[in-house]
Amino acid sequence: MTSQRFSALWRSLAPIGNSPHGYHRSSWTYPDLACREWFAEEAADRGLAVETDGNGNLWAWLGDPTAGDAVVTGSHLDSVPGGGGYDGPLGIVSAFLALDLLLERGVEVRRPVGVVAFTEEEGSRFGMACLGSRLLTGALDPERAAALRDRDGVTLVEAMKSGGVEPSLLGPDPVRLKRIGAFVELHIEQGRALAVPVGVASAIWPHGRWRLDFAGTGNHAGTTRMDERHDPMLTFAYTVLAANKEARLRGGHATVGRVGVEPNATNAIPTTVTAWLDARAAEQSTLDGLVDAIGTRATERAARDGTSVTLTPESVSPVTEFHDGLRDRIATLLGGVPVLPTGAGHDAGALAAHVPTAMLFVRNPTGVSHAPEEYATDEDCAAGVEALAAVLEELACR
Ligand code: GLV
Ligand code: MN
Ligand code: MN
Repeated sequence: MTSQRFSALWRSLAPIGNSPHGYHRSSWTYPDLACREWFAEEAADRGLAVETDGNGNLWAWLGDPTAGDAVVTGSHLDSVPGGGGYDGPLGIVSAFLALDLLLERGVEVRRPVGVVAFTEEEGSRFGMACLGSRLLTGALDPERAAALRDRDGVTLVEAMKSGGVEPSLLGPDPVRLKRIGAFVELHIEQGRALAVPVGVASAIWPHGRWRLDFAGTGNHAGTTRMDERHDPMLTFAYTVLAANKEARLRGGHATVGRVGVEPNATNAIPTTVTAWLDARAAEQSTLDGLVDAIGTRATERAARDGTSVTLTPESVSPVTEFHDGLRDRIATLLGGVPVLPTGAGHDAGALAAHVPTAMLFVRNPTGVSHAPEEYATDEDCAAGVEALAAVLEELACR
């Protein structure tokens, strides 16, 4: 695979949803639908059969998936708001190109091979990370999912309908899942942890999202005495600083990247602040301790401020240890490439609880992700395609 060949297909997808402030490919919005159309066209160009499952995940098949023991590869097309172009789409572009290589080599493909694009991996619109893969695998209750609302109050069901998918089929799909014999997700590496073009994942850190609801008493900014305020913004601000400190002390990660304020007026003490905590750690015990400590410190501060705070889990994932046999086989096949864990969540994590699953990482020299500076060279991406083709050949053709 030449880097020019990678670049040509990459350029056909890259403009969709891009802006000077990064990518905005929120699920079921126009850019996501345009990406889905791109997927269907690429699949059709290769003679692959395309289907959308009841959870809105897209599948393209070489061979008959009902035969079972399929080898599936892919990732997601949605982005965080203002994100990079590679997180997700690199795995799908690479999947189509790896399939091209496989077919050009004329090897006999003995197992069905699928390319998948999972719905809303980022959880940016409906707040639930790995929405499509969690629904597929039964890790998310379909009734809970159906009731999820975006920031404008639109439900997931309404959004899917607007995208032409029948939401009455939301939920676990054990028949489809059983047909998959192995899943391999190629993804851009996201933490400047890879010094060579390609690596293999060992594990995903336990991680999750919690909503923090701070409530106080709205009042006039000019006339309310400083010692008579019940200002939830103060409790919120203290909690953000405490989260950062607790994470550094414990060797975990804690981030507050999204916040909402009511009524959001310059000259009024707010009545409520809603914030979302993203917390992660290499060990479950560290993560549990970190989240408990943040909750405790927020509650203590709320008592001092005369406000209240509640901490509600929204999506929480335990550690994923990828299938060790598959991981070692792939690392050896690729000539002893590095094997590394990641603090980023992936659909592969949801699949791994049911199917032998592996991940390939492609070097990201900026180390930046979820931001426009996210980057991989065309040469490294082409190396990723070659590696994925080798893995598909190993799994589907021997
Ligand atoms: C997904 O990219 C996540 O780790 O939040
Ligand atoms: Mn991401
Ligand atoms: Mn991703």
